[in-house]
Amino acid sequence: MSDWRAPDVIASAPGRVNVIGEHIDFSQGFVLPFAIADRTYARIRKRGDQIIRIRSLQRSNDIITTSIDQLAPSADGDWERYVLGVVWALGIKSGVDIEIDGYVPLGAGLSSSAALECAVAFALNDLFSCGYSLKELALLAQKAENKYVGVPCGIMDQSVSLLAKSGSALLLDCRDLETRLIPFDLAASGLQLLIIDTQVQHTLVDGGYAQRRQSCESAVAKLGIVSLRDLSFSDLQEAKDLLSEEEYKRARHSVTEIARVGKAVDALIDKDFLTLGRLINESHHSLRDDYEVSCPELNCAVDTAISLGAVGARMVGGGFGGSAIALAKTEDIGRIESAIKEEFTASGFHVPRFFTSLPSDGARIEPLT
Ligand code: GLA
Repeated sequence: MSDWRAPDVIASAPGRVNVIGEHIDFSQGFVLPFAIADRTYARIRKRGDQIIRIRSLQRSNDIITTSIDQLAPSADGDWERYVLGVVWALGIKSGVDIEIDGYVPLGAGLSSSAALECAVAFALNDLFSCGYSLKELALLAQKAENKYVGVPCGIMDQSVSLLAKSGSALLLDCRDLETRLIPFDLAASGLQLLIIDTQVQHTLVDGGYAQRRQSCESAVAKLGIVSLRDLSFSDLQEAKDLLSEEEYKRARHSVTEIARVGKAVDALIDKDFLTLGRLINESHHSLRDDYEVSCPELNCAVDTAISLGAVGARMVGGGFGGSAIALAKTEDIGRIESAIKEEFTASGFHVPRFFTSLPSDGARIEPLT
């Protein structure tokens, strides 16, 4: 099989930004992400044997070759483990050629890995008529990342990459994966969401993410509850002495962030963007001070945007680098970009990249070309 250009199926899946609800998906909280326009494409062709070949148009012409019976979680390898993990998690038993063409910026906190997993999962589900629902596919893609790649991510990124709809943010209840579409039309109110990629490479495999998650889990165990979703702010205050200082701060972020998501949804529905902006700012402070996953570049982007009149700004995604968002009047966006560039240069940081994106559709089958 050498004809990579004649796939049996092509599927694509988007990256995401999260309006609010950070680091609470694994605490059964609510999150409010939307899919961005940048997508990853998976072109897959069935083979008549047990061989799996993978290549990416963005990674020169290296071809990774293995076979179905060799699939097993392993720390060896690179990006292709996200693809192999999905083949493994879906229980595919026949050989395939998989070509990846990805346009979600890598390491920018915009969930390029979930876009990759979900494009492959969506294509395989179609090609082999597996019959998985979108929620099942999200859980299988998460299983691939948790168990095969070894990254203890939550369920937010895979869910939004599969379930998002254009024009809306996706309110996701991470306890049961119930969703509600919340209209997200900033342009009609003269606003825009600027995405600022600090170009500080973050990787969730590095351990900071897992440590935060462990602190939340040990707080849950000490408090004898199922998840931080079950904890009110006053319960947390009363139980403070049972927790270490670190567990208390991580739990305080989680409890207050879950509450902020509910308020943000009300604010969006009421088109009360000042309140939404205030909640976005509070989310950043909580991630910076209680959850401690921000970094100087993210704080610089956020503080500069706010000082130039942004309605709200915060870091998004796993943190320790990656991107921030700024909600601002459309006419202020250019000034905010220039000021952030200047501040970054003056501080000796990498030049940041800027994007904007309208909420886009989740994974889909693309025409064969
Ligand atoms: C990463 C993880 C998600 C989520 C976010 C933080 O993107 O993959 O599951 O935990 O960080 O909100």
